[in-house]
Amino acid sequence: MAKIIDGKAISLSVKDEVKSGVEELKKQGIEVSLAVILVGNDPASGVYVNNKKKACEYCGIRSLSYELPEDTSEEKLLELIDELNGRDDVNGILVQLPLPSGINEDRVLDAISPLKDVDGFHPVNVGKLSIGKKGFVSCTPAGVIQLLKRSGIEISGKECVVIGRSNIVGKPMAMLLLKENGTVTVCHSRTADLKEVTKRADILVVAIGKPKFVDDSYVKDGAVVIDVGIHRQDNGKLCGDVDYEKVEPVASYITPVPGGVGPMTIAMLMHNCLDSVNINA
Ligand code: GUN
Repeated sequence: MAKIIDGKAISLSVKDEVKSGVEELKKQGIEVSLAVILVGNDPASGVYVNNKKKACEYCGIRSLSYELPEDTSEEKLLELIDELNGRDDVNGILVQLPLPSGINEDRVLDAISPLKDVDGFHPVNVGKLSIGKKGFVSCTPAGVIQLLKRSGIEISGKECVVIGRSNIVGKPMAMLLLKENGTVTVCHSRTADLKEVTKRADILVVAIGKPKFVDDSYVKDGAVVIDVGIHRQDNGKLCGDVDYEKVEPVASYITPVPGGVGPMTIAMLMHNCLDSVNINA
């Protein structure tokens, strides 16, 4: 029987800490603000952006919302980013992904000032993470580290296996686990014998993007299993990349879906917004 890592409760603690930090700054006359840019009508992105605005409200962070039409040109978007980069009253800038086809995502992310890049996607921040310098860290992997630490799970010296090598989750996850002195292996679609590797993991982070892909045959007895995936099943219910029913009996700790990693992403975004005041100071 695994202990369930309660991402909802942990994310609330993080947001409450941010809220206190924001209140402290307010007393000094400093306001924390986040500009959120949404281009087009992707329904999922609309929901994410709304949740980000709600979290800002909860934490006392001012959110500036820019909702641009689907046919917005890359040039117009870059102009807006340039304007926000130059504004002293904007601490953080977030462009919701994916962007409509025709807009070059890399060019857009590169245009955000690394000092305002609260998503941690800018190459400067990615580079800082890889050499252990302070900068913004991608919110989902940063949230996973908080889930582990706040559950009292030791990372140092542990065999950590990450499935997935995306720029947003897999790669920064590996860097963060390494920073915490884990012994880290990253697996991906070309990994020759995936089970052989994942079976070695004390801490297994699954960000593969395939519903219920990881069952008990991938997991060592007593491993900590962190599920980054989220999928809507045909029956309308959500599930992760991990087959929870099969893995829960063999794991020591496990994150549920929903209510595990998901809520941490926005909480860490709020944390990064608060941090942006120091980074910009
Ligand atoms: N789309 C899906 N996840 C994210 C995220 O963490 N940040 C941004 N900007 N867009 C996303």
